[in-house]
This record gives sequence, structure tokens and C-alpha cells, in this order.
Amino acid sequence: ARIEKGNHRHYMQKEIFEQPLVVAQTLQSYLRSYEQQVALPDMDFSFADVPRITIVACGTSFYAGMVAKYWLEQFARVPVELDIASEFRYRQPVLEAGGLALFISQSGETADTLAALRHARAEGQRIAVVVNVPTSSMAREADLLLPTRAGPEIGVASTKAFTCQLAVLAALAAKVARDKGRLTEAEEREIVGHLSEAPAAMNAALAHDGDIEKMAPLIARARDVLYLGRGPDYPMAMEGALKLKEISYIHAEGYAAGEMKHGPIALIDEHVPVIVIAPSGPLFEKTVSNMQEVQARGGKVVLISDAEGLAAAADDRLLATIEMPKVHPLIVPLTYAIPVQLLAYHVAVAKGTDVDQPRNLAKSVTVE
Ligand code: G6P
Repeated sequence: ARIEKGNHRHYMQKEIFEQPLVVAQTLQSYLRSYEQQVALPDMDFSFADVPRITIVACGTSFYAGMVAKYWLEQFARVPVELDIASEFRYRQPVLEAGGLALFISQSGETADTLAALRHARAEGQRIAVVVNVPTSSMAREADLLLPTRAGPEIGVASTKAFTCQLAVLAALAAKVARDKGRLTEAEEREIVGHLSEAPAAMNAALAHDGDIEKMAPLIARARDVLYLGRGPDYPMAMEGALKLKEISYIHAEGYAAGEMKHGPIALIDEHVPVIVIAPSGPLFEKTVSNMQEVQARGGKVVLISDAEGLAAAADDRLLATIEMPKVHPLIVPLTYAIPVQLLAYHVAVAKGTDVDQPRNLAKSVTVE
């Protein structure tokens, strides 16, 4: 069936706005709201016996995997290895017997990821797959199939599939933690509660669409853009940079905020906008101090944060503040994905590029 854009100018825009709905839909398959428990499909092994998890993916799905590494290590205390599919396969990875290999893919057909999956299977790993196309090759080859329910994604730059991947991966991390005895029943209930708040938080974030559209022309002029974040917001910075380069053709880099002083700071001047992802929380002060290092060198900052008072302290080196709803740290990546996607979208529209079909890119890459 043909998928309509409805009132939206582009599929990507439609897909960004669908996220509260499809994330809710995806969460519904993984959360038992009455018992406040995480529920995964039946499986013939237990996470309690899994000594190590290896996550492999490409592109945006890789950044979802990177967020999952933070969650799995934090909640389940299980060692997680993470690799890009095209590297994993040929570097002779050392895979522990009984290990779980987790593949993340919107299409389920990306050649590098599929080849990595087959390699992991040949090496005796159990195969879990987070995938949006339930009839795909990866879905068929999984021992544990964890579908995202984003619906068909048409825009080449992935948006709704990504946040649905995050939703599934958060539920997975909670389940692994539970099976490993790292999470009490009460803590599991809390996690389920926080995850259930994600769709509303994403809706609140979408309300900033107009502000982001207004600031987009400022970014559209730039030749380079830097994105900074710490912890699980570091992969979000990388995803933000990827979105921008994919559809606006502006060179962008995502960096761990604390690593900026080891290189990218040399690039900073008044022509390089720096997007700082800084939710309040234990890493907030550190990220803000990195932001001030940028400002001290004349860099122009766009701050994405829920911290009050930062906008009031505005000076001309603060291009804009995108004020986010206050959310639990667990759902920060899901919520902050929205402004990052909207910014890329509006910059691309301001530049007049082909948002849904960016040059040289394919929705699904079936060659290695
Ligand atoms: C292509 C798409 C990206 C996607 C990546 C991985 O590069 O343009 O949007 O993130 O492939 O695709 P997958 O289907 O495996 O998630």
C-alpha cells in the first residue's frame, strides 16, 4: 500500500511527528503495564547465563546500540562490546562461548550487518535481533526476535525506527538486569514507569518545532557543526551529526564533550555552531563547563537542555536554547532525539536539499 504524507511536506517530517505514537506502540509489546513488568518474547535460553553481549549495527542503528551499551552496563553489569558491522566481521573478534550477539537494523537487510550476524552464528553466539521489518532476513535468522513497531519508514534518514529501537533496547536492558539479579522487582517497576512516560515527553519536545524552524537558517549557513554530549548523550551527539550531514550536506561531527579539548576545540571560532546536549543530571556541570570552553573561544552554542536559568544567562554566544521537558535520565535519549532530528530537518529544508532522498544515500544498503 502506498504510504501517504498527509499534511506533512516530507516523509521524514511525518515520521518525526509519528514518534510518540509508534514508540508507545512498540513499548506496548514489551511492557506489561498492569504488573509494571518488562515482557520479552519467549526464549530458549536465559540472560542469567550470558557472560557478554556483543552489539553490531550500521549507521543510525549503531548509535542506538551505543546507547544500549550504556544501559546494559549500567543496569545489568554485563560487559558489552560494540562494533560497526563492516569492522566486526573482518577484525577476528574474540567471542566468548555462550555469548549473545545483538544486531540492530531498521531494514533487517543491511549486507554488512547480515554478514556479521552469520559470522557470529558460525562462532557459536546466540543471535538477538532488533529489527523493524518482521519479514526481513535478519528477523528470520534470529534466535530472539525483538521487533520495533515503527511501521514502514520511507525517509532515507532514520528517525522513528531509531527511537523505537531505543525503546526496545531499554526494555531489553531491564530484562537482562532482572534475569541477572541486578534489579529488584521495585526497580523494574520504576523503569517501566519511566519508559511509559516517554511518548508524552516526546510530544512535549515536538512542541518546539516552531522554535527550531526559526533558528535553522543560522545553522544552514555553517560549513561545519559540532555536536557535544556525555554518557548516553554522546551517541546522541553522534546521531545528531549524522542526521545533519545526511540530509543537509553540512559537515558535522559528534564528540564526547570531555574529549573536545583533544582536538575539535582547535576548530572553534564564530563560524562553527556547537550543539550541546546537556540534560540536568550528574554530568550536567561537566558538559556546561565544556560549553563555556567553546564560548570562551567565540564559538556559538545551541543548548538543548531542561536546566532552568540557562537561557536567562544568555549572551550573544548562546545562539539559542531548546528547552526540554524534565524527564528521567533513562528516557533522555528518546526525548532529546526529537530536537536533534528537527534541527537537521529544518536546516535541510532551509538549504533546499532533497530531505527524503538525499544524494548518494540509500535506505537499505545491500552491498558490502
Ligand atoms: C543506511 C540508511 C541509514 C541506516 C543505515 C543502517 O545508511 O541510510 O538510515 O541507519 O543504512 O540501516 P539498517 O536498516 O540496518 O538500520
